Amino acid sequence: MDYRFLDKTDPLIHGLIKEEEERQRTGLELICSENYVSPAVMEAMSSVLNNKYSEGYPGARYYGGNEVMDKIEAEAIERAKQLFGAGHANVQSHAGAPANIATYFALAEPGDTILGMDLSHGGHLTHGHPVTHVAKVFRFVRYKMKSIETGEIDYDAMRQVAKAENPKIVLAGFSAYPRELNYKAMRAIATEVGAYAVADVAHIAGLIAGGAARNPFDDGFDVMLSTTHKSLRGPRGGMILTHERELGKKIDKAVFPGFQGGPIMQMVAAKAVAFGEALKPEFKTYALQIVANAKAMAQRLMDQGVKLITNGTDNHLMLADAVKSFGKPGGDIQNVLDEVGITLNKNMIADDLRSAMSPSGIRLGTPALTTRGMKEAEMRQVADFIVRAARAGGNEDLKKIRAEVMDLSLRFPVPGIG
Ligand SMILES: Cc1ncc(COP(=O)(O)O)c(C=O)c1O
Repeated sequence: MDYRFLDKTDPLIHGLIKEEEERQRTGLELICSENYVSPAVMEAMSSVLNNKYSEGYPGARYYGGNEVMDKIEAEAIERAKQLFGAGHANVQSHAGAPANIATYFALAEPGDTILGMDLSHGGHLTHGHPVTHVAKVFRFVRYKMKSIETGEIDYDAMRQVAKAENPKIVLAGFSAYPRELNYKAMRAIATEVGAYAVADVAHIAGLIAGGAARNPFDDGFDVMLSTTHKSLRGPRGGMILTHERELGKKIDKAVFPGFQGGPIMQMVAAKAVAFGEALKPEFKTYALQIVANAKAMAQRLMDQGVKLITNGTDNHLMLADAVKSFGKPGGDIQNVLDEVGITLNKNMIADDLRSAMSPSGIRLGTPALTTRGMKEAEMRQVADFIVRAARAGGNEDLKKIRAEVMDLSLRFPVPGIG
């Protein structure tokens, strides 16, 4: 990208941004929560909207001068509602974690119980990891997979836990689970114990928007919350969607003034732009290709003896047991792949015997590479790079793979960078 001012006013930061552009351009991004936004989203993010305070909501602000902001936020809300089939949208959450926290406070009281996915089985930090503040405010109880071979959730055990623990919220959602959840079963459990059914679709929002994953609202969920920057390919941010008017009011109050101050209006505008892109037919093709790509990569990895948790994927991500596949922990594989220009992350696997800092697994996914226009053939090539690098004999092998990674990367430009 061209920067007309930064190179002169702050050459150090300008230089570092250019360095990062180069890293993105010449490497392969497999972190399954990352993506490349369009130049249009980027332009909205860096606009003068940054200069305005807009505490409140459209038509009810605390400061003057918000006529334009009202129109922008109202448009973002309308597009979010249309995209996910919602009756109410809050687009002010600064990110996924604040969207989770605001939702918990909107629907539950301090001390109440929340039933979420076990963190080593795919659940996210924000779903009550002991290191988070929310874990000190709410009581989190867990459900798990029945078997790591299929990934099916043990819905009978989940129901028993729900009946014994009486949660206020049944939380569906994950950051490291490669299968589709049975929202109908979860909704039924929530109904049986009088809990709200909430889906944190941070990872799969783009798949839902593009019709490549099931929409929890179709199975009667009360609330759906998400990040906007992963598969949905928007700016960094969060959103919370619901149907019911009263719930919508509670959620709005929990976001502002409950948890946040002024909304970041350039991000709200950029969300509107990204939602507009996701409403186009091309986004459906993109979302379906993300899943087709993940399936192709998963198959190639498994064909080469890589042990995937649940033996495949239904969505955009894969989780591999690095110890079983390569005889090395996930962190070692992450490091060796960094050397060849492939970025992914070490990750805990179900009931991991190793530590969070040095887990057994690696997590990888296809949203970013799919944005660059790569298809199944390239996914098989990337899978081969991963296996070759993980099993490489020495530096010479790694250098050769790095050159091949660079070659493939440069054939598929990053939007806005080239
Ligand atoms: C399921 C889920 N929820 C919430 C979050 C938190 O989002 P953020 O990093 O935007 O706060 C993540 C991020 O990885 C996530 O995967």
